[in-house]
Amino acid sequence: MQRLLVTGGAGFIGSNFVHYVLENTDQQVTVLDKLTYAGNLESLKGLPEERFTFVHGDIADAALVDQLVAETDVVVHYAAESHNDNSLHDPRPFLDTNIIGTYTLIEAARKHDKRFHHISTDEVYGDLELDDPERFTEQTPYNPSSPYSSTKAGSDLLVRAWVRSFGLQATISNCSNNYGPYQHVEKFIPRQITNIIDGIRPKLYGKGENVRDWIHANDHSSAVLAIIAKGKIGETYLIGADGEKNNKDVVELILKHMGQSPDAYDHVVDRPGHDLRYAIDSTKLRTELGWEPQFSNFDAGIEATIAWYRDNEDWWRPQKALTEAKYKEQGQ
Ligand code: NAD
Ligand code: DAU
Repeated sequence: MQRLLVTGGAGFIGSNFVHYVLENTDQQVTVLDKLTYAGNLESLKGLPEERFTFVHGDIADAALVDQLVAETDVVVHYAAESHNDNSLHDPRPFLDTNIIGTYTLIEAARKHDKRFHHISTDEVYGDLELDDPERFTEQTPYNPSSPYSSTKAGSDLLVRAWVRSFGLQATISNCSNNYGPYQHVEKFIPRQITNIIDGIRPKLYGKGENVRDWIHANDHSSAVLAIIAKGKIGETYLIGADGEKNNKDVVELILKHMGQSPDAYDHVVDRPGHDLRYAIDSTKLRTELGWEPQFSNFDAGIEATIAWYRDNEDWWRPQKALTEAKYKEQGQ
């Protein structure tokens, strides 16, 4: 039995990971989360009290982090400012959490000689042309585009340097776009689903040609558990499930499943610096650690996600009006 300290466990992917771990292993979980606008305690409701503890706090609080890291076996670091659009309007919190927060955690993990797993994103590699036959691999050079992705790239490089200079017992994973329950309504898929529920037309940035490589949050969780159990210290693993789709196709699929006409969406102002395409080659994770995704039917996954948002309006409703008001100000 291991004790896991999960940072950002009240956010989208962190909360899915906590549910996954408590359902599929005998591990103990402590969540450290600041409960920013993106954190929601409702996402952690009903978990077994004897195996789960919640701590409200900031990953940049060195005294708190030191105490929690000392008491754990493995730190799984999800906490971040995660939304590209927000980073374009107010980058500062991205530096505070993604850079200083990560630095604070790895200093504590180094001091207490604890296993550390750093969660990162494929966005650190920049973007690909639509017709590029290559996908991102662990060897692709870093080339981030936005304040968000550059701070994630910075945090990855800190972890790599701490491994090399101080022998930090760390691994890194860079995953593609996740979907599933508990995702904030600012993000693409939940925004469109909840817009349609509210009678608002979905909003597509630019022409909608941009491609994202979708993976179900549970497949991300199983990959992270495999890396914690079997990953080699100092190594990076790319996580992806061969789920490339352009945004227009995703919106049309959501509209179809929600009984709307396939062209019932609006084109809005594009995101500045908008990355064109992400695509992950996860051969290393599959061949070295034997991981395989289980949720490869995107159509069925989207249907289940729509059902979750229909059934859990209490969870997302408090965030919806403010989120749409912010987008409206930006012409999006
Ligand atoms: P999210 O925005 O939904 O959740 C982030 C969580 O971190 C929230 O609960 C928030 O309260 C918490 N947090 C923020 N600042 C904090 C701080 N200073 N101290 C403690 N807690 C803090 O994000 P997400 O989409 O779940 O992403 C989680 C991680 O996965 C991030 O590191 C992100 O870069 C990475 N990632 C996300 C995706 C994706 O598709 N969403 C894909 C690959 C990697
Ligand atoms: O690739 C992994 C990354 O995926 C993570 O690192 C980020 O944390 C996560 O937010 C996500 O980043 P994206 O910028 O790709 O996700 P987002 O949901 O914001 O947008 C997905 C695509 O949809 C992108 O091309 C922008 C577009 N979009 C987004 C919104 C909110 C729209 O066309 N309309 C919208 O209303």
